[in-house]
Amino acid sequence: MADMSVEFCGLKLKNPIMVASAEPSNSVENIKKCIDHGAAAVITKTIGDIPGMQKLTENSKYAILNDQGKLIRGKVPRSFVFYSRSGYAAEPAQDWIAYLRKTQAYAAANGAHIIGNITSGTVAGWRGLARMVEDAGIPMLEVNYQCPHPTELAEGAEGVWLAQDPRVTAEVTRQIVDAVNIPVMVKLTPESNRITEIAKAALDAGAAAVAVNSRFVGFAVDIEKAEPYIGGPAGVGGPWVKYITQRWVNEIYSKYGCEISGSNGIFDWRDAVEFIMSGARVMQVGSVLMLKGIEWMPKVIDGINRFLDDHDYPTIAAIHGIASDRALKTPAEMMSMEPLYCEIDREKCNYPTCDICIRMCFYDSLFFGEGQVTTTPDKCIGCELCFNVCPFDAIRMVPKSERAESVAAE
Ligand SMILES: Cc1cc2nc3c(=O)[nH]c(=O)nc-3n(C[C@H](O)[C@H](O)[C@H](O)COP(=O)(O)O)c2cc1C
Repeated sequence: MADMSVEFCGLKLKNPIMVASAEPSNSVENIKKCIDHGAAAVITKTIGDIPGMQKLTENSKYAILNDQGKLIRGKVPRSFVFYSRSGYAAEPAQDWIAYLRKTQAYAAANGAHIIGNITSGTVAGWRGLARMVEDAGIPMLEVNYQCPHPTELAEGAEGVWLAQDPRVTAEVTRQIVDAVNIPVMVKLTPESNRITEIAKAALDAGAAAVAVNSRFVGFAVDIEKAEPYIGGPAGVGGPWVKYITQRWVNEIYSKYGCEISGSNGIFDWRDAVEFIMSGARVMQVGSVLMLKGIEWMPKVIDGINRFLDDHDYPTIAAIHGIASDRALKTPAEMMSMEPLYCEIDREKCNYPTCDICIRMCFYDSLFFGEGQVTTTPDKCIGCELCFNVCPFDAIRMVPKSERAESVAAE
């Protein structure tokens, strides 16, 4: 069996799966259940001092859509869209601290960890909540920056959201890091196109890791009723979003080689493996546990383990970041890929019943000539679109260098 253990910001984790801050981590009982089902760490539902966000939780709404945008009930497909609105932990922070002590004791006795997730509307609030978590014996903090920034900060910062402005991110992170001795993970928001820059600001200010990312806010429309589902905008996510998350994981890992917790888009073990190969050390799993049950988690963990064994990887560390390490990074590198051209297998080609390759060639390389599909190697740029859309496996991509050799031999 491959070694699934990882070290993350000084925490020794038995596997790379954490439960994300969400409803499965909103009570002592739910947190214990996550631990019982193999979570290496559980990140608490956000503990905060923003009354509106606490109140919102009492009015939570959850809708599941399919990949056509239709509301669905019952079995949840892999292509689900989770459209939902909820707030932060409904109870006052002081009550939560009592819960934290209990869950921490349970986690420690079962080889797991609790990570306290906090949010505040003021710098003093951030610092105070961070200390409360630390005083409860919790070994790590996650700060949820998907919320308005403390308004007393830098001039002109009002109305900017945390983790959308590197300056505000750095300042708040520095204040929190200074207030505690436990590692601080900054949870970034996808609602920015400067995520890499913002991650750097957090790391420079002392963050031990970044969580990439929380969810987007979306707007989903019920066309039969001509109104938005669940009344208006809501958080939106699902496995479809993983490619975007992994883009940021790849970029941040490649630039800074820092500790990353991947979140946003994990359905099963395959997604988790993709996240690790992109550069995430650990993963946070949220929506899928709400839709498939906490019982789903062992499938994710066991699936990663099986993948490692099947591919003779001795440890999880062996696949950490390998896809990002192999990624072409600059335009020059991308343009130096071996040039290809397409060849048609006339035995397999179904022309004239099928002409999809001709219709999908946007470079004028394929045409109908002499009773069959003909290719113009000089015009073919090797994009592989015809190869991918051919339903009859009748197209082969060949390196242009091979053609040059065969032409020379003729
Ligand atoms: C219903 C729901 C509630 C959430 N509540 C919180 C929260 O309180 N604090 C937080 O930092 N993130 C919260 N999140 C975001 C998750 O922690 C996670 O980052 C996000 O859902 C992406 O992961 P996923 O694709 O596994 O769901 C919530 C997500 C969902 C779906």
